Amino acid sequence: MAVPLLDIANHNRPYFLKMKETLSQWLESGQYIGGEHVTGFENEVSELLEVKDTIAVSSGTDALLLALMALGIKTGDEVICPSFTFFATGGVVHRLGAIPVFADMLPESFNIDPRDVEAKITSKTKAIIPVHIFGQMVDMEAISSITEKHKIPIIEDAAQAIGATQNGKRAGSIGDYGSFSLYPTKNFSAFGDAGFLTTQSEELAKHARILRIHGMDPIYYHSEVGGNFRFDPIQGALLRIKLPDIDSQNLKRDENAKFYQKKLGNHSEVSVGYSEGSDARITLPTTDEGNQHVWHQFTIRVHGEGEREQLMGWLRERQIGCGIYYPLGLHDQECFKSVTEGKPPLPVTEKACKEVLSIPIFPELTENQLSEVSDAILGYLDN
Ligand SMILES: Cc1ncc(COP(=O)(O)O)c(C=O)c1O
Repeated sequence: MAVPLLDIANHNRPYFLKMKETLSQWLESGQYIGGEHVTGFENEVSELLEVKDTIAVSSGTDALLLALMALGIKTGDEVICPSFTFFATGGVVHRLGAIPVFADMLPESFNIDPRDVEAKITSKTKAIIPVHIFGQMVDMEAISSITEKHKIPIIEDAAQAIGATQNGKRAGSIGDYGSFSLYPTKNFSAFGDAGFLTTQSEELAKHARILRIHGMDPIYYHSEVGGNFRFDPIQGALLRIKLPDIDSQNLKRDENAKFYQKKLGNHSEVSVGYSEGSDARITLPTTDEGNQHVWHQFTIRVHGEGEREQLMGWLRERQIGCGIYYPLGLHDQECFKSVTEGKPPLPVTEKACKEVLSIPIFPELTENQLSEVSDAILGYLDN
């Protein structure tokens, strides 16, 4: 039985009937920019994520860029972010002429290492972007205690972590801004590009709203330069139909993760959770104390030279989807060579990039499919 890494159309299919109706009403409405589907979407997201305000924008990348612009990040400023993340996190910093300073990660959670963040702070550090990678929140108490000491703002990159919580607080509700992507592969996904920013500050919300449309306030008057980061109302209209199901779908992902932890974790060569020096051949990811993980990815580590590529080939021969997120840290990317020249390596990130492999975790997986994936991995270990 083939098991894809993702099945986006299948995920959206239960909503199609209602969506087709909404689409035809929207076409008739003539409201193709702004309006009730944008503000309604923003209000509903604010309520769900327990934030003061939400500013819907054109993509997750634009959400990050807009947050940095609203915080006044400029040429020569330093912004600390992880190396083990999607390119956008570091790319937006560079686009503003600022310097991305890459911190190493924790091997257990794949999240940024707060100790390395603290070590990399200088007088030029003007923001920190912790990324809640794969759906699990960064230790925000540790990050906040650093930023409070140094008076540095936080942009939570929660692109992969909508709905995740830490000690009862939602991702995106702690930092100065929370930044989200609605890219079609995300846990809560649009029908094209879209994203949003969250904030608990009225002032920061107002600033981001003005910069979202060319820094215009009032109409045709510009005291600063923004961009066109508008969110399409058609995305809002369709997303509002799916929004009430975010938590239940995330819980289904968590059940799937528990299935793998139980079924694969019984094998003597599998370790549930990372431990340095272990002789396990495969390590399964776990959830840190106090976190509710939303499993955007279920990312295992396959130890040993060439082992990950062999397992990948084995799974693909059996038509089981899998993918590498991420094969190369941002600090090792060609385009950042000028930024990282002469800087020390990030050994934890570099090791993870050689070992990570993500396997199917989407909420619609059936028990048969979960067994198929697990049996294939167990078969590989016993081969
Ligand atoms: C961690 C992270 N940050 C930022 C982004 C950028 O989002 P988008 O693709 O919507 O621009 C993504 C996703 O693609 C992401 O995974």
